[in-house]
Amino acid sequence: MRVGYVYNAKPSARQEIRASSSTLAPEEGEEPPSPAGIGLAEDVWAEWDDAETILGVANALATRHEVSLIEATGNFTARLASCSPDIVFNMAEGTFGASREAQVPAILEMLGIPYAGSDPLTLALCLDKAWTKVLLQHHGVPTAPFVVVDDASGLDGADAVPLPALVKPLYEGSSKGIRDDHLVHDRESLRRVVMRTLETYRQPVLVEEFLSGREYTVAFIGNGDDVRLLPPVEIRFDQFPAGANRIYSWEAKWEWDRPEAPLRVFDCPAALSAAERSRLDEICLATIRALRLRDWSRIDIREDRHGVPNVIEVNPLPGVLPDPAANSCFPKAARAAGIGYNEMILAVLDAASKRLGVGR
Ligand SMILES: Nc1ncnc2c1ncn2[C@@H]1O[C@H](COP(=O)(O)OP(=O)(O)O)[C@@H](O)[C@H]1O
Ligand SMILES: [Mg+2]
Repeated sequence: MRVGYVYNAKPSARQEIRASSSTLAPEEGEEPPSPAGIGLAEDVWAEWDDAETILGVANALATRHEVSLIEATGNFTARLASCSPDIVFNMAEGTFGASREAQVPAILEMLGIPYAGSDPLTLALCLDKAWTKVLLQHHGVPTAPFVVVDDASGLDGADAVPLPALVKPLYEGSSKGIRDDHLVHDRESLRRVVMRTLETYRQPVLVEEFLSGREYTVAFIGNGDDVRLLPPVEIRFDQFPAGANRIYSWEAKWEWDRPEAPLRVFDCPAALSAAERSRLDEICLATIRALRLRDWSRIDIREDRHGVPNVIEVNPLPGVLPDPAANSCFPKAARAAGIGYNEMILAVLDAASKRLGVGR
């Protein structure tokens, strides 16, 4: 098939991607709008992919298909038209706001171009962690009690959340705005961190009861009866530096974990009894149905103090770093299931082709 691979590249990656290969490299295009000014200088580009990932995915797709790389810049529709793909492999994170992950698939739908992954409604819903939780609650999927604070006038409302609590920007990812000190134990710290997060991330803030138990993330590929849940990855907080809070914070993801000294914090498959595993599987299947997730996603889950698994959030555009030494949960779970990187990416595309009846 002719596959258009749509992505957002970190600014530092763009040159390398263009220089990589004449058959794969995208043309020089205009730069995408910059989200600079929202968040901290060091985390602005955290969600966008690096050259290794973009080329890794492109090469995986190219083992079976004719691939065009399409950066999600303002003029990506022109490039789409020039390569007229049978299907798009969408990994674009988008630029601004709570609907940013929905932007590319919305345009693809408008143009009638089939694509892999969830639809704009699901992508926007999952980026907004509160909407995700409301829907999960409606479907009986456990999720921690929470309050959304829109501005300073909403601070009193946060007192309804039991302590300790976690403070997070409503629609970020990659642990942006979830620093080690966002786990708060008293009301004064809660107010201080909420105000700081409102000002830094310029969006509502989610205050959520802290779930103190084990944490897992579960990846899946496929749809309906063909859905394949990959082995759960457990985050081992006992492997964190001494004194660190038991949350997968910005510091844990980006500062304590360095390529030259990776944190050994992921266990896959997680050590679970058959009953524990089937309870996780059930919650994941209920989440897939409730949010109408398609083709692939990763579901973050944490046990409360009674050991009941709660869904924290859902990632319909999961990170897929190709380096087996990197802490990237989706490829790690696939490897534990005997699925290599290329096979994993192709399986996601196959799930979409099958769902859409494209390329057969
Ligand atoms: N309610 C919670 N209780 C305990 N830990 C939490 C809770 N919410 C988030 N965390 C911790 O913070 C991490 C990042 O939160 P998450 O909502 O998954 O943000 P991101 O979208 O940045 O991945 C989680 O992996 C978990 O370790
Ligand atoms: Mg997460």
